[in-house]
Amino acid sequence: MHNFALKMSIQNPVVAIDGFSSCGKSTVAKALAKRLGLRYIDSGAMYRAVTLYLMRNGLPLTADAIDKDVLASALDAIHIDFKISAESGLSEIWLNGENVEQEIRTMEVSSNVSFVSAIPEVRHRMVAQQQRMREDGNLVMDGRDIGTTVFPDADLKLFMTADPEVRAARRHKELQLKGAVVTLDEVRNNLQSRDLEDQSRKESPLRKADDAVILDNTQLDFEEQLDFVIRHLEQLKSVGTE
Ligand code: DC
Repeated sequence: MHNFALKMSIQNPVVAIDGFSSCGKSTVAKALAKRLGLRYIDSGAMYRAVTLYLMRNGLPLTADAIDKDVLASALDAIHIDFKISAESGLSEIWLNGENVEQEIRTMEVSSNVSFVSAIPEVRHRMVAQQQRMREDGNLVMDGRDIGTTVFPDADLKLFMTADPEVRAARRHKELQLKGAVVTLDEVRNNLQSRDLEDQSRKESPLRKADDAVILDNTQLDFEEQLDFVIRHLEQLKSVGTE
């Protein structure tokens, strides 16, 4: 077990975690935030909240279909905050004063969010807000473009990946535990298409930043992943003090 002194040795770190869908990015990010006392921001939740807002207001969900002025007004009307839940102690997302942490995880939002997150104006607004959230650092943010676009100067950049079969099996198990009736094939296809959409969109596509460290967790358990990340933060410390 690593000690908490690490936090004091790297001044206000910014950790960027990117990677494919269902790689366990948020699990690692939350655990790291807890261990080191960092703020955690789930940037994917922001794209999900915008999607939820557009859906609730019956607005089109693709760049081609939505009128630019309508989109601009909708984005002006969207206010996103993260607040720590008194119950769980975890950061939860609020949309215009309403806690939508659960509602943004529905299948309906999940199946539309890739289209909404590909709209350039949506990305520009979200990236600007994410950059303001940096404040004085002490932050871990996960997503698809954090190390490449949001914080290109992050102290540590991780790019998470895992064998697609292992990811599909993990996600399938997770969904089954939640009571969802879905086949492994459906889960595998959904992951493949989301990865493809994230990698091929024009605006800040998912890609590994040149200076990101790859964390392939196909064969790693939770503690091993956390150790991996903390080891890399410690290396930064020794580089910084040489
Ligand atoms: O991490 P997630 O599955 O909750 O993300 C939801 C969607 O948002 C996903 O389709 C990819 C997109 N996303 C993005 O384009 N950029 C980010 N920084 C985070 C998420």
